[in-house]
Parts: sequence; structure tokens; C-alpha cells
Amino acid sequence: MKKTINVGVVGCGYWGPNLIRNFRSLPRCRVTVMCDVNEDRLKHLRALYPEVACETRYEQMLARADIDAVVVATSVKLHFPMAKASLLAGKHTLIEKPMAASTAQCEELIEIARNKGLVLMVGHTFLYSAPVRKIKEIVDNRDIGEIRYISARRLNLGLFQNDINVAWDLAPHDISIILHIMKELPQSVNCRGGAHIVPGIEDVTSMSLHFSNERSAIIHSSWNDPRKVREMTIVGSKRMIVYDDILTQEKIKIFDARVEQPPHYDTFAEFQYAYHYGDIHSPYVKQDEPLKTECQHFLESIWGGKAPITDGAAGLEVVRILEASSESLRLHGAPISLAANHNHRDTTIPFPRKDVRVS
Ligand SMILES: NC(=O)c1ccc[n+]([C@@H]2O[C@H](COP(=O)([O-])OP(=O)(O)OC[C@H]3O[C@@H](n4cnc5c(N)ncnc54)[C@H](O)[C@@H]3O)[C@@H](O)[C@H]2O)c1
Repeated sequence: MKKTINVGVVGCGYWGPNLIRNFRSLPRCRVTVMCDVNEDRLKHLRALYPEVACETRYEQMLARADIDAVVVATSVKLHFPMAKASLLAGKHTLIEKPMAASTAQCEELIEIARNKGLVLMVGHTFLYSAPVRKIKEIVDNRDIGEIRYISARRLNLGLFQNDINVAWDLAPHDISIILHIMKELPQSVNCRGGAHIVPGIEDVTSMSLHFSNERSAIIHSSWNDPRKVREMTIVGSKRMIVYDDILTQEKIKIFDARVEQPPHYDTFAEFQYAYHYGDIHSPYVKQDEPLKTECQHFLESIWGGKAPITDGAAGLEVVRILEASSESLRLHGAPISLAANHNHRDTTIPFPRKDVRVS
């Protein structure tokens, strides 16, 4: 019989309440405490969940004996101090994305969790979504051939953050999906951007990741765009996938389309590209709430004593790329090499990891 896991959630702004709602809905899980410095947020949540205790001081939440796990859903600058305090207090810890503000902070958290034998997980929510799991399955079955490149666009008007730029806010989703699909770290990263509203905080960025075998990924992130766009295109040598997360149905379309060079030609006149246009197919994808699957996976990882698929090492990889993107922005788009860290993952964590268990 699995033991009931008592969860405390810190940060009850926009995202925290979604975590509270999902953890409350799961069997053998109890949300015992909600913590926020903002009394109005707590008042609102107390009206929804009167049985859950409220704290305005994080230290008091951590001091409570009725918490096994902590969920950190505050702004990025607080992820590290809050997650560190939670781990040192012996609590399994789920941190919202991005894991922390630097690779050094991520490494310290990983070390503490390892020494204490605690589960450390990062909220890379899209890896728990049915469309992304389907795309991964299609790519791993080699149905689209070899990946040539991936392009991602995540655009909308706002919400401006005051401690991070738009790449740190929106690109973690795309980076985590791209690493999951590519199954390797990029060799280098370039990033350009513009800070049009708040000096020094880019509201639009264009990031390029360069992988082995001429494979690449382009990530366009913006808080300064009229339309909400959540789109990813995966171009393979045989087929191409378009994933539009805004759609309520047919989020994934597989295009039987490709362009090939002729295998041999002697003169330019003989040279012809071979364009292929075939069917467009949309596989059935069961609709479920990715965040619920993520929360369930956190509980399963605690019960099973196993590393989650989005563990600290996965969070660190995303932050490593974000950190390189900031360095490239500072150097006006110069490439930042990640080659020295290239074998990092293979030596520690098997990748691709076991599939997500869906509740
Ligand atoms: N996984 C996803 O899809 C997803 C989506 C949105 C946001 N997020 C992440 O969730 C986190 C929170 O984002 P948000 O948009 O909800 O931010 P938010 O600003 O709306 O909420 C943060 C909350 O933390 C509270 N807070 C600040 N300092 C505190 C302290 N010392 N103690 C207790 N509470 C404190 C604030 O009062 C606020 O209510 C961020 O890391 C963000 O990247 C993830």
C-alpha cells in the first residue's frame, strides 16, 4: 500500500494554483499547506480549499512535520534558495521551470538531493503532454527519417517578468522538448534579441542550437507579439511534423513531404531537386492534462525511489543552454560552445529515459 504523500506548495500566483488543483485531485496525495507572502492570494485560495492550511512565511511551512514534499512555484530568483532549504529540511522537491538562475545553483541542488536520497524534479511540463509523447514515439520509430532541423515559436503579448528575459521564461519548454527529441546536448548556442520595453530584459529572442550531423534547432520566443503562438516543426529526411499546441484537436500533423538531391549529376543542367508531396495525416492523441501527469510522476518517483524523467540533471541541461544564450546575447549573437560538457548526460543518467507512466 502506497503511503499518502503530504505536499506543501509555495507560490500561489498564476501557476501555483494549477499545481494545487492537480495534486489535490490525485489519490494518496494531500495538499496540506499553501504558502505565499501575498495575503490576498491566500485568501482567494482559502475560499477554494478551506481544509488546506495557509502560511505567509516559507520557513514556517518547512518547519511543519506534515509535509513530505515541497513544490516551488515562485519567481526564478527564488527557486534556488527555496529548493535548497526544502531539500536540507529533508523534503522531496519539485521546482518549476527553469530549475534555477545558474548552472552552479542547479549543480548544488543536485548534489544535496543525491546526498540526502531525495527526489528532485523540474516542471518541464510539456514532456508529460500527450502530443509530445506521440512526437517522441514517431521520431524514435524513425517514421520521419533522420531529423534535419526543428523550429519552435512561442509568442504572445506579455506576461513581462522583471527578473528574467523572455528566453528564460518561454524557451525552457522548447529546449526541453528539443533535447528529448534530439537525445543529445547541442554543441553550441547562439542568441540574438531585443529589449524594447524594459531596458536590459529582452522581450524577443531568437536562439539557435547546433547539434551533431548538421542538425539544428531555432527557437523564437516573444512577449511582444499580437498572437499567441505555440508551434513546433520537426523536419525529417522522409516526413515532417507540425505540432500546434493552440489547437484543441489535431495538434499534430505529419506531412509526407520532402526534398531530395539527385544521387548523381554531371552538369548543372542535369541537376534537379526532387520534391515529394504526399498525404497529410493527423494521428489520434488522447487529451489529458499534462500537469496532472507531471504531478502523478512526481508522486510515483517518490514512491518508487526513482529519478523522474525531468530530474535535476534534465533541469541543469536546460539552464546550461539558457546560460549560454545569455552569454551569446551579451556578445551580440556570438556562438557559445558547449562542447566541453557534451558527454555530461551519458555518463550519469541514461537517456532516453523510461517512458512516463500515465495515471
Ligand atoms: N510549467 C509551466 O507550464 C509553467 C507555466 C507558468 C509558470 N511557470 C513557472 O511557475 C513559476 C511561478 O510563475 P507565476 O507566473 O505563477 O508567477 P507569479 O508571480 O504569478 O506567482 C509567484 C507567487 O510567488 C509569491 N511569492 C513571492 N515571494 C515569495 C516568498 N518569499 N514566499 C512565498 N511566496 C512568495 C508571490 O506573491 C506570487 O503570488 C515560475 O517559475 C514560472 O516559470 C511554469
